[in-house]
Amino acid sequence: MRVLSVASECVPLVKTGGLADVVGALPSALAAQGIRVTTLLPGYPSVMAAMGGGRALRRIDDLFGGPARLQRAEVAGMDIIAIDAPHLFARPGNPYLSPQGGEWADNGVRFAALGAMAALIATGGIRNLGFDLVHAHDWQAGLAPAYLRYAGKRVPSVFTVHNLAFQGKFPLALFPLLGLPPQALSVEGVEYFGTTGFLKAGLWYADRITTVSPTYAAEIRTPEMGMGLDGLLRGRAGIVSGILNGIDAVSWDPAKDKLLPANFSAKDVAPRAANKAALQRRLGLEEDPEALLFGFVGRLTWQKGVDLILGALGTMLGQGAQLAILGTGDAELEAATRGASWANPGRVGHEIGYDEALARQIYAGADAVLVPSRFEPCGLAQLCALRYGALPLVAHVGGLSDSVIDANEMALAEGQGTGLHFSPVNREMLEAAVLRMALLWRDQPSFRQLQANALRCDVSWTRSAARYAALYRDAVAHAG
Ligand code: ADP
Ligand code: GLC
Repeated sequence: MRVLSVASECVPLVKTGGLADVVGALPSALAAQGIRVTTLLPGYPSVMAAMGGGRALRRIDDLFGGPARLQRAEVAGMDIIAIDAPHLFARPGNPYLSPQGGEWADNGVRFAALGAMAALIATGGIRNLGFDLVHAHDWQAGLAPAYLRYAGKRVPSVFTVHNLAFQGKFPLALFPLLGLPPQALSVEGVEYFGTTGFLKAGLWYADRITTVSPTYAAEIRTPEMGMGLDGLLRGRAGIVSGILNGIDAVSWDPAKDKLLPANFSAKDVAPRAANKAALQRRLGLEEDPEALLFGFVGRLTWQKGVDLILGALGTMLGQGAQLAILGTGDAELEAATRGASWANPGRVGHEIGYDEALARQIYAGADAVLVPSRFEPCGLAQLCALRYGALPLVAHVGGLSDSVIDANEMALAEGQGTGLHFSPVNREMLEAAVLRMALLWRDQPSFRQLQANALRCDVSWTRSAARYAALYRDAVAHAG
């Protein structure tokens, strides 16, 4: 089977979030299931550079206001097609934001181009290259299923929601430029509360909808967590499912990771202590093996509950614990993070920025990793933490509750559990969970048992790739 995966991000070419990790990991994970994936991406400068330009497949004279070429190359073992359209994508920096920080004014046509090219390619627009199915990710690829529906040839589509909070809403004035038939501008189409809705379009037209965990697939059916789309999702409930993300277990391997000061494994965990010491030195924390070291890696935003972490700081420090924070995000939360660090020298260390090596050093050196997200479709931080032997302390939401086993009293009695859950997601409950973790930390044999459980978890793509493969086969079999 041949699948065209369509997305706006893909590791190692362009990344702003976990979407990129997933899109970058799927091709090799699915290859093991007998599925050949080609990934279609916008031709951002970083993409074109990594492709060395690529081989020309086809020229388009006018793609929303300028010429474009579809270029193909193999990068990092992936078959990539990029839309080389300088008027849309040859812009430095963040894929969505201008250097002044606002969204690019023409994001509507930029990502309509992604959807339109996906449909063109999948329906035979390139000679000798056919596809059985299109897998579109998030709002940026949301128009792909819409264009496909009105293309001459029937090719089924799967649409994956990585985050319902980002909906790709544009003025209705965009619609006439899209080249979709007039009937598509309807509640039974791309219209979404008086806007042209890209995420809505994906959810409406796709043959199958997936999210990145079973719990999130259930949560988004509710008005509380459906972000305006719960009605549509309940209406299409029969085709919605949740498939938990994995991480690339080869790239994320504590026994081989060259970015770690010391390598270790489930069988030989002792060298891990050197990573804790190195992390404490690197972030200006007191070099104390006995202090419970909490870590956080992620976007500094409301979704991720960073304000809750800073709110619970007193409780952490009261237990003699330390905190290491790495991230970028909202200016206010960045400032609050700096403030907490400066006010607590030797106890709170931070770095504002994106740093792959430091992220890995936190997962490999911290004793516990905090993931207090208010909502979390899947979350990769807790998977990285498990893989590197840091116990995840997570909000009981979305993929966090699907991937971490709470070490409650019964679990502990059985030697089970890989971390701690708390709910509801507020400061008081986070503080209570911090106290539970501190209690465990004082009971070292139990703590080490949980760490061993965490290190033995299979967080790879193996199970989930098989689920995607089964879903693809089902969608193709039922495409009318
Ligand atoms: P998101 O909602 O941001 O996509 P995920 O947990 O799915 O959250 O994925 C984020 C991924 O990016 C994780 O693997 C995390 O380790 C990594 N990451 C996030 N922020 C940083 C950072 N500042 N430096 C390095 N890695 C980061
Ligand atoms: C989104 C979600 C995150 C998920 C990632 C990859 O960014 O916020 O929970 O892990 O996509 O699917």
